[in-house]
Amino acid sequence: MCGIFAYLNYHVPKTRRDILEILIKGLRRLEYRGYDSAGVGIDGGNNKEWESNAKSIQLIKQRGKVKVLDEEVNKQQDLDLDIEFDVHLGIAHTRWATHGEPSPVNSHPHRSDKNNEFIVIHNGIITNYKDLKKFLESKGYEFESETDTESIAKLVKYMYDNRENDDISFATLVERVTQQLEGAFALVFKSVHYPGEAVGTRRGSPLLMGVRSDHKLSADHIPVLYRCSIIALIHILFTCMSICLCLCFYYVAYSAVIEHTNRVIFLEDDDVAAVSEGRLSIHRIKRTVGDYPARAIQTLQMELQQIMKGNYSSFMQKEIFEQPESVVNTMRGRVNFDNNTVTLGGLKDHIKEIQRCRRLILIACGTSFHAGVATRQVLEELTELPVMVELASDFLDRNTPVFRDDVCFFISQSGETADTLMALRYCKERGALTVGITNTVGSSISRETDCGVHINAGPEVGVASTKAYTSQFVALVMFALLMCDDRISMQPRRREVIQGLRVLPDLIKDVLNLDDEIKVLAEELYQQKSVLIMGRGYHYATCLEGALKIKEITYMHSEGILAGELKHGPLALVDKLMPVIMIIMRDHTYIKCQNALQQVVARQGRPIVICDKDDYETAKNSSRTIRVPHCVDCLQGILSVIPLQLLSFHLAVLRGYDVDCPRNLAKSVTVE
Ligand code: F6R
Repeated sequence: MCGIFAYLNYHVPKTRRDILEILIKGLRRLEYRGYDSAGVGIDGGNNKEWESNAKSIQLIKQRGKVKVLDEEVNKQQDLDLDIEFDVHLGIAHTRWATHGEPSPVNSHPHRSDKNNEFIVIHNGIITNYKDLKKFLESKGYEFESETDTESIAKLVKYMYDNRENDDISFATLVERVTQQLEGAFALVFKSVHYPGEAVGTRRGSPLLMGVRSDHKLSADHIPVLYRCSIIALIHILFTCMSICLCLCFYYVAYSAVIEHTNRVIFLEDDDVAAVSEGRLSIHRIKRTVGDYPARAIQTLQMELQQIMKGNYSSFMQKEIFEQPESVVNTMRGRVNFDNNTVTLGGLKDHIKEIQRCRRLILIACGTSFHAGVATRQVLEELTELPVMVELASDFLDRNTPVFRDDVCFFISQSGETADTLMALRYCKERGALTVGITNTVGSSISRETDCGVHINAGPEVGVASTKAYTSQFVALVMFALLMCDDRISMQPRRREVIQGLRVLPDLIKDVLNLDDEIKVLAEELYQQKSVLIMGRGYHYATCLEGALKIKEITYMHSEGILAGELKHGPLALVDKLMPVIMIIMRDHTYIKCQNALQQVVARQGRPIVICDKDDYETAKNSSRTIRVPHCVDCLQGILSVIPLQLLSFHLAVLRGYDVDCPRNLAKSVTVE
């Protein structure tokens, strides 16, 4: 979805050029979250008095990518870029359109009025915006955009104009605004009435603050303050007037903040964070009994290096090639290959309860859902429990019955996907134990689940998920192994799977060596309109995932087909022209897959087959083969999906598309 980024420098002099560079760079890092338009809001004016400059706000907004905004910024003749600001708040946004087409007027920041008295950036959706708009229009406010966000900008001005006392704080104002909002939001506000002050708040959409101080901070925990009469007395937190403080707000994408600081505070739903005169305060809109949390400053374990493309042409390509290491990182310290044991620290207090449950329900969206489909069989085999795999949106639409003795898994790379998060809350309300499988420490799903496993794949920036899929796969297999570690009858199979995990990274390297061969295949296919991908058993998930990769980055039609269903309809699509990829591995479905191959060949189909390295029998009936190394059946899906990741990448490059930023998509989908 959208990316929001704000930068506040307090007694750290910066020129307008520096500030704009920081904002644009922050947006570039967040661009994978949405890239149909972008904008910044900064202090206007050209004299050197920051207070009088802050009396006007300059907005620069453009349709298109951040690059276009950057060009626009450089075209601004009337802005003195060398002017220095001692204190300045700049806010910036990169958009994935929900309400209103991509255009400058629909881009953020949105403004309260023609004088830009209040501006706001928003990630999420305001569901009651039509009611708010109607009310504000009845009060004489004129709307200029088609967005839901504009109602927030107007509402804050309405609250300000109708304040009961002159010294109302910016935070209180924002708090009043958020009480009127329904839906999901992460917001940051800037105003000419509160120069040098920033207020950010969230509900349902994540927001965190990066904190940098050139002085030692006096406390590592920020108490959360509540709206009460003594708030002014306890407002002073970890810093004081003499301290230089830089704050960055950003929407969970550590990449935007890491180059400024690795010290961050994760805001919770209904927190209002305000920075005024260099002091940060966080208080909660709604206080519940016994709710006295503190917000810790946490240190991010991330290197800038991890979010750079290095020698690769795109993040997606880099992430595909990182898989030998990312799966090792998922297993690191968890799988002991010498004594065949698995330890998952995040589950250890709950494993007995999980073993006693009625069923496992895996809930996710997109690629993460496919990781559930891919591991369902091994989970059923090793846990001997019924396993349901659910698309989060459908699971909610059906009001699926959930019981106290169910264990519900929420698989999510970002840990922020709205459908998955809603499903998590739904299951929690019904008393089920909730388990997160996420790649993002501190994400909403990782925080709201009872326990979980971090897949530790490292930041995934490319919109098309690749390394997260294989790491989710490995994490779920590790969970299955843990569930049966005390079953004597399961030990031979456990050993086989654990030894399969041991060799997996090397086998992935072997598959990656097929890259040139796959590029040649892409050259043959890239002008086609459609590609069918067929398989069954462990490889049905590979078909779904391969087809999703092709669809999302090449815009070709592609369908993952369960080979067992072929004769029930899809076979009608097969002829000598239709490209068909079949996955045929030497496992318990091998004979049935051979039958499917025959059925395709009999209809003049010319299948391209992904098969075992030494399977010459299958090769005889194929127009082309991609031979991958053999490994234990339940892990083979990791090796069969990588050729399709590579194929989709090459197809997209050959078709001239931006691999990392496919049209109409964004990295994490924080709206339902
Ligand atoms: C496809 C893709 C999406 C995500 C889906 C869920 O390449 O990336 O289908 O898998 O939006 O996202 P997470 O895993 O962040 O919940």
